[in-house]
Formats: sequence, structure tokens, C-alpha cells
Amino acid sequence: MSEYPTRYAHITGWGTAVPEKVLTNCELATMVDTSDEWIVSHTGIKERHVVAPEESSATLAADAAIKALDVANLDPSELDLIIVTSASPEHLFPATACLVQDRIGATKAGAFDLLAACSGFIYAMNMGAQYIRSGAAKNVLIVGTETLTRFVDWQDRNTCILFGDGAGAFVLQESETPGGVLSGIMRSDGSGGDLLCLPAGGSKMPATAETVSTGQHFIHMNGREVFRFASRVIAQATREAIAAAGLKLDDIKLIVPHQANLRIIESAVRHLEISLDRCVVNLDRYGNTSTASIPLAVCEAVQDGRIQPGDRLVLVGFGGGLTWGASVVEWSGPFPTKHKVRPLKYRVLARLRSWLLRGARHVEGLIWGRENQ
Ligand code: ACO
Repeated sequence: MSEYPTRYAHITGWGTAVPEKVLTNCELATMVDTSDEWIVSHTGIKERHVVAPEESSATLAADAAIKALDVANLDPSELDLIIVTSASPEHLFPATACLVQDRIGATKAGAFDLLAACSGFIYAMNMGAQYIRSGAAKNVLIVGTETLTRFVDWQDRNTCILFGDGAGAFVLQESETPGGVLSGIMRSDGSGGDLLCLPAGGSKMPATAETVSTGQHFIHMNGREVFRFASRVIAQATREAIAAAGLKLDDIKLIVPHQANLRIIESAVRHLEISLDRCVVNLDRYGNTSTASIPLAVCEAVQDGRIQPGDRLVLVGFGGGLTWGASVVEWSGPFPTKHKVRPLKYRVLARLRSWLLRGARHVEGLIWGRENQ
């Protein structure tokens, strides 16, 4: 027998944050040449949430993170690692994960961003679970957060009808009890990178007046090609993840697919030969929230009582890159603890700490001056 314990990564906390403002299809139809009937029949989407000016990917992520820590009953300072995944990060750098670390007061956590477009949450969960299995971390926060409505061209009916804003977070914790994240597969095909991209703003095409005037800072998508790719890979990745966990499709209670288009989910369900009611679908109210869509759907299903401790789920995503992936998860729920932690209190302390650290850096600069730099 191995002298090292077998470690499992359990999902012990979960939380979401969505902006208050809702944009319905009928409102969209006053902005571009489309209709509620076309959007519902082609995508299943009825409405989406849109960020307010004072909100951002980091503020939504921090709100979702605090709720997840509250469910897990975990003090933010006990986090070892924060992985934020987003297709609409706050900046190229610093990482949105670092802004979240500061906002929630995760004083001992490393923090980095992971980019895998809409598959990001699957990739991040896999990575978080691997840190725990290897013994490198005990408590990991993963967050998918999006403000994609800031990157859509509101004149382009092919894309502006699809996307919405929101965030979802999981807390992963180490345990020797079997369960939690049972398998994870990740795949990519960069030859399809141009099918879904944001052309400008990176090192290849830095921002210029021309990139702005020609709309290169908006999402560009070949919808039909992405549709075909997605319909193919969901069923394939689901089967691979189930096999990697040593299970069968019948062992799975629910499949939680990335919420991009109801027709893509229906096609996947046909390939898997299962009924649609074994899938969690909430895209009608959120649209495509990219990295946030899977945790948003999971959290809603938990709230509705559709997911209970011991249930086995497949979480499956696809997106730009191209990327795709799936994980089998055995739902756990929070670990029993004696005392109640109040992460909101830590959030107030985090603000104070952040302010003091900035102040200390300023004073340090004044004392040491330029000659000592
Ligand atoms: N309202 C009315 N008509 C429209 C609209 C609209 N919003 N959008 C397109 N049309 C028109 C087109 O102009 C076209 O008209 P034409 O035949 O006269 O040329 C017609 O409708 C059909 O267009 P298609 O592109 O063939 O429509 P399709 O049925 O493929 O639906 C859609 C388009 C919804 C974009 C679909 O292709 C899709 O969902 N693709 C996948 C997109 C996706 O999942 N993206 C996210 C991936 S995850 C990530 O990483 C962010």
C-alpha cells in the first residue's frame, strides 16, 4: 500500500452572482433586426443579464466567491489557490484572480487566470482538483466570470443575441473520503481558433484607431461552424469523462452542459440517446455566459433540489480555441464544521487591508525615495 493518502477534491461550496438588469429578446428587437420568435426558435434564449457600469468581471467574481465560501463555511484566509477563468477578464494583466484575492481577503492564496473560453470552468476545475490530489493545495477557489456584453457589437445580430453576464464559483476541498471530482478530460484544436475570436487588443493586433473603427475589439464568430463542432464534441467528451471515471451513462443522474444554444444541447442528447430532462438547461434566462454558464446551471439545480449529495453529474463544456472538456463529479456538499465562518465580515476586513497595503506602499515610496529604487 502507498504511504501517501489518496486525496479527493470535493465541491464543498458554490455561489453565483448575476447583474440585476435583464435584457429581453423584445428589447433586443428594438436595437437590431431580429425578433423574439427567431431568437427563441434558433437558440432557446429568452433573456440575459447585463452588467451595470459600476460592475465588472472582478466584482461579479468576488460576489460569487463570497457566497461559495459561505456555503463551504471556509475563511478566505484558508484558501491556498484561486483560479479565475474568463473570456472577458478585467485586464490583459493583472490577472482578475489577483483582484478577487484582494477583494475577498484571501491572504495566503496564489492566484492566476486561466483562458480556455467557454470550456474554462471545466479546465479550472480539473486544475484545482489536480492541485488537491497532488497534495499541493487543500482549499481551492475556482471562479468563472463574464461581462461579455461589453465585447459584443450591438449592431451584429449574429452575436449580440447570444451572450449574457454573470459569475459562478466552486470551493474545492481535500478529503480522504472518495467522491468529488472523479474524472476530467480536456481537449483542444487550435486550427479552429478563427471560428470564435476577439481579433484585436492583444499583442498581434494592438489597439489603434483603425482596430476600433473596424470593430476588431468585438466578438467575431462563425456560428454555423461552431454549432457543428459543439454538437459533435459534447456527446464525445461526456462519454470519455464517464469512461475515465470507470462509470456508465446510467450511473449519471444529470448532465450539465455549457449553456450556449438549446439546439446544440438537443443534438448532444440525441447522440447520447438520453432524454432532455437528464440535462440541466437554464440558458433561456441567462443566454451564453461562457465560463460562468456551468456553475450557474449547477447552482440553480442544487437550489431546486435536482442535485443531492451522492448524485453523479457530468459537467461538459466547449468554446473558443477551439477547446472542449468534461468532468464527472460526485456531489458532496459542505464538510461538517463546528463554528460558523462569516466570509462577508472578512470582505470588510479585506477592503481595510487592501487600503492599508496601498497606503503602506505609498509611505514606503516617500521614505525611500527614487535614489534607493
Ligand atoms: N435574427 C434574425 N435572423 C438572423 C439572426 C437574428 N438574430 N441571426 C442570423 N439571422 C439570419 C441569418 O442572416 C441567415 O439569414 P440568410 O439565410 O438570409 O442569410 C439566417 O438567419 C440563418 O442564419 P444561420 O447563421 O444559418 O442561423 P443558425 O440557425 O445557424 O443560428 C446561431 C445562428 C444561433 C448563431 C447558431 O449558429 C449558433 O448558436 N451557433 C453556435 C454559437 C455558439 O455556441 N457560440 C458560443 C460558443 S462558446 C464560446 O466560446 C463563447
